[in-house]
Amino acid sequence: MIKIAPSILSADFANLERDIARVARGGADWLHVDVMDGNFVPNITLGPPVVQSVRACTDLFLDVHLMIDKPVRYIEAFARAGADLISVHLEADHPTRIAEALREMDRCGVHKAVALRPITAARAVLPYLEQLDLVLVMTVEPGFGGQAFMEEQLETVAQMRALIARHNPACRLEVDGGVNAKTAPRVIAAGADTLVAGSAVYGAADPAAAIAALRG
Ligand code: DX5
Ligand code: ZN
Repeated sequence: MIKIAPSILSADFANLERDIARVARGGADWLHVDVMDGNFVPNITLGPPVVQSVRACTDLFLDVHLMIDKPVRYIEAFARAGADLISVHLEADHPTRIAEALREMDRCGVHKAVALRPITAARAVLPYLEQLDLVLVMTVEPGFGGQAFMEEQLETVAQMRALIARHNPACRLEVDGGVNAKTAPRVIAAGADTLVAGSAVYGAADPAAAIAALRG
């Protein structure tokens, strides 16, 4: 089943509760929370206190995407704040520290995910894949909402689907960046089952219709 995860990056941060309620009413399955540190990516967004406030105003599953350097340092803080799933970028630390971040997620009882920048090959997940709940394939350079979908990432999505089918069929495959009513059918055809959408949902006059359109 396809899950739609609106990204609050495109919400009005001064009216977050209102904007979260809007997508919850509109049929969102998950809520995607983009954490950026100004180092791993040029932009800065939010930290554990905001996740804690979000947790207090919704029952939606919180999918927390860490675009930060050395994420192992912050797994516990985001788990305590109420994250249900945390994704760490493979490019954000040495492999031993990524493995440590995943162990930390186990210890904290959150779902485990890794994320890949567009430059990273699908096979880079192999050392971790068997233990993951989700793999996130970026379909834009991480850092900002509202960018154009990178067509060439469809191939990475398809390769990732093949790896997941072979090594861990229960693992979800999420795509993030430039997903809208036009690109959604293509990422789904390539094998994605979880779609993040920021501007396509929050930029729409009718978020419920936008979410339904993404589901196809
Ligand atoms: C980008 C973030 C995305 C962003 C997607 O670095 O990881 O989650 O919110 O925004 P859209 O859907 O507008 O491309
Ligand atoms: Zn994201």
